[in-house]
Amino acid sequence: MKDIYILGIESSCDETSVSIVKNGREVLSNVINTQIPIHTMYGGVVPEIASRNHINNISKVTKMAIKNANINFEDIDAVACTYGPGLVGALLVGLSYGKALSFALKKPLVGVNHIEGHIATNYITYKDLTPPFLCVMMSGGNTQIIHVKDYNEFEVLGRTKDDAIGEAFDKVARVIGLGYPGGPKIDKLAEKGISNIELPKTHVEGLDFSFSGIKTAIINLHHKDPEINKENLCASFEAAVTDMLMEKVKAAVEKTNMKKIVLAGGVSANSYIRKEFENIEKNGIKVYMPDLKLCTDNAAMIASAGYYNYILGKIDDLTLNAVPNLKLN
Ligand SMILES: Nc1ncnc2c1ncn2[C@@H]1O[C@H](COP(=O)(O)OP(=O)(O)OP(=O)(O)O)[C@@H](O)[C@H]1O
Ligand SMILES: [Mg+2]
Repeated sequence: MKDIYILGIESSCDETSVSIVKNGREVLSNVINTQIPIHTMYGGVVPEIASRNHINNISKVTKMAIKNANINFEDIDAVACTYGPGLVGALLVGLSYGKALSFALKKPLVGVNHIEGHIATNYITYKDLTPPFLCVMMSGGNTQIIHVKDYNEFEVLGRTKDDAIGEAFDKVARVIGLGYPGGPKIDKLAEKGISNIELPKTHVEGLDFSFSGIKTAIINLHHKDPEINKENLCASFEAAVTDMLMEKVKAAVEKTNMKKIVLAGGVSANSYIRKEFENIEKNGIKVYMPDLKLCTDNAAMIASAGYYNYILGKIDDLTLNAVPNLKLN
């Protein structure tokens, strides 16, 4: 069978990334230009600044991705672009650039849902992983338990009613003075602390979550006592959030009888959460965790998801628009 080369473009938030992936699973290049140092001084992503920086970066990042992959533009079979969910201005930069490339190269355009991209990270990490499986999607904007029935068939079993898990990490970190992005900083600090602070855990019906209560509880504790031990606070926060997550994951396993659990999204880089998931590997359950370098936004995951759309004939035309609140399915 002929090899298929997909050029992926990701610009939904504050990473401008372009990647070349062969046959959906082999990353030939994955150039990521992160704007984190720019947004850090504002304590979070400023949408207008993100869009402007994507414009400055996209062309350079694309040329570098082609060069690093050691291929030519003519070798590409299709251009895969994130078209949602995300910041509309940021999405439009990558999508418009992708449309222009697709038009100029006379190659198909494939629109990719960013969440499908996060899931596809695991196809790159585990060459033999195939659906069906249960995916625990934990990112800055989403927290969902998804029954991945096939490469392009999804059923969302549960989702957050309020804050995404990554958003809770980021807000807690900001209030206790750790800065942006908060997830990795809480992760590091928590390693030095002990989970000795009792925190309220919100119980939601079914397989849904709620993380805003625990976030507020931490913020209140810190406001009451600014000298409170931050290491223990972070360790307690991580332990409570993970407990809430695990309770629903176990219920989803019981409900679906799935034996494969796949993690996805930036928060799946968290060392405590990874350890807790390793602990549930019994009774035939196997847990798949994405390569740490691929947990947060990158274009290799978009190219991989784009490959599966492409081979299934899911091609878009140049009228494709950005959809900031795009859902799975
Ligand atoms: N080690 C870590 N521990 C906890 N959280 C982490 C860690 N590393 C990254 N994160 C969190 O992951 C999030 C970023 O992940 P990701 O790039 O998947 O989200 P996003 O692209 O902003 O949102 P979405 O994918 O839902 O659009 C941030 O909230 C960040 O704090
Ligand atoms: Mg993301």
